[in-house]
Amino acid sequence: MAAKKKTTKKAAKKTAKKKTTKKAVKKTAKKTTRKKAAKKKTTSAKKSDVPLVGIVGMGYVGLPLAREFCLGGAKVLGFDVNPKTVSNLNKGKSPLKHIPSSDVKEMVDTKNFKVTEKMNQLGKPDALLIAVPTPLTENREPDMQFVEKTCETISKYLRKGQLVVLESTTYPGTTKELMLPILEKSGLKAGRDFHLAYSPEREDPGNKSFRTATIPKVVGGYDKKSLDMAVEIYKYAIDTLVPVKSCEAAEAAKILENTYRCVNIAMVNELKMLFDRMGIDVWEVIHAASTKPFGYKAFYPGPGLGGHCIPIDPFYLTWKARQYGMPTRFIELAGEINTDMPHYVVMRTLEALNDHKKSLKGSKVLVLGLAYKKDIDDVRESPSLELIELLREKGARVDYNDPYIPQTHKQRDYDLQMKSKKLTPKMLQKYDAVLISTDHSEYDYNWVVENSQLVIDTRNATEKVRKGRKKIVKA
Ligand SMILES: NC(=O)c1ccc[n+]([C@@H]2O[C@H](COP(=O)([O-])OP(=O)(O)OC[C@H]3O[C@@H](n4cnc5c(N)ncnc54)[C@H](O)[C@@H]3O)[C@@H](O)[C@H]2O)c1
Repeated sequence: MAAKKKTTKKAAKKTAKKKTTKKAVKKTAKKTTRKKAAKKKTTSAKKSDVPLVGIVGMGYVGLPLAREFCLGGAKVLGFDVNPKTVSNLNKGKSPLKHIPSSDVKEMVDTKNFKVTEKMNQLGKPDALLIAVPTPLTENREPDMQFVEKTCETISKYLRKGQLVVLESTTYPGTTKELMLPILEKSGLKAGRDFHLAYSPEREDPGNKSFRTATIPKVVGGYDKKSLDMAVEIYKYAIDTLVPVKSCEAAEAAKILENTYRCVNIAMVNELKMLFDRMGIDVWEVIHAASTKPFGYKAFYPGPGLGGHCIPIDPFYLTWKARQYGMPTRFIELAGEINTDMPHYVVMRTLEALNDHKKSLKGSKVLVLGLAYKKDIDDVRESPSLELIELLREKGARVDYNDPYIPQTHKQRDYDLQMKSKKLTPKMLQKYDAVLISTDHSEYDYNWVVENSQLVIDTRNATEKVRKGRKKIVKA
């Protein structure tokens, strides 16, 4: 794992250096020589000087973070309430497609990594990093139950000198207004007895150019001591740290990043619909605009927004803004447009079938890709789920294929009870329409188009396909 890491890190660093205009980061970031610091600590320091980092929530965020801490020479004690996650990780099995089990096994074998359900161990680590879910309630308001429960449990075992850091995405004010009073139920006082910070995770599963260690990390502390302690701890895992003056600034920075994506994606989604009416290909337009070397950043349209972050996090801010009597119009509008995209895709499918003298009702439709983005196995908030429901509502007979998701599982809003269909030329030909919802790299799009009657492409995945273009409808 170490050798592989060196090469991927080197490549990622190169890309990061080249691609980013990180003047701002350079100015404010505390560049840390992570490996050197860790090496010095592990070789010259006594074993007891190596920090024990507790990570609460061993999911998409917690596990990659744990891996980086282990690689940096720290010890990690993971906490999770899911017994299956705990037992798999302790056996060296990764629950995530993009984190190889061999990495987890190596971490376990070094004896520097263990995961437990026993929350009475929470007093042991030097720092507790919280990476539990922060979804929305049915009324689209922040659902803070996981953060609250975690803090309630921590408050029972919190000890003097410990550092508690929230990593979960949330609204500005969470650390001080919500976490601090719960943690102080322990009888200990923040700033005096224990330390508190916020440091948002910027994990991007499936991104081959960056990994947790090479993504600069923003850190805000409750006070100076808390910030300093958090920076020292994160040096074991992260190459570049970006300290800010408060927890609120760090919380707001994360929401800004996600709102920026949400709003810009909504804009290109809207332009996609307009340009389509005008007979202009939005993808060609974006490629052309992207050649401008400054002042433009490309965002791409799609079938809707997916994932645990972009469709959700901006609404944490909307909710908070209401307390200040201020509407967040950009966010609301972006939400409206993005939420409407699956309806647009279904309408385009209906029109395309109409052109083939077929009705959507009774037609067989195959949705290609269930994950919310390419090359990952995460279906949370995936627009494919909504597409399947809408198509079914209109009377279509729908199947799906996703190499990463063999079957669907019950979600908060969906219980599709479907299994991924095996792709063969014969089965493709049976469908009246094949709808590309996720542009996984594994698909051979030439082959898909060649063997399909009609292809609805929401991702421009068929851009390079030359034969059979008449069968392709962009949506
Ligand atoms: N997934 C991403 O790419 C990503 C990126 C950036 C930020 N985030 C944010 O990070 C946070 C975590 O997201 P995730 O994707 O890792 O979630 P996840 O669902 O993959 O993992 C969360 C883990 O926390 C565990 N958990 C829940 N309650 C717990 C408790 N009380 N004590 C201990 N463990 C508990 C769950 O069993 C689960 O294993 C969220 O706020 C999310 O918005 C996620």
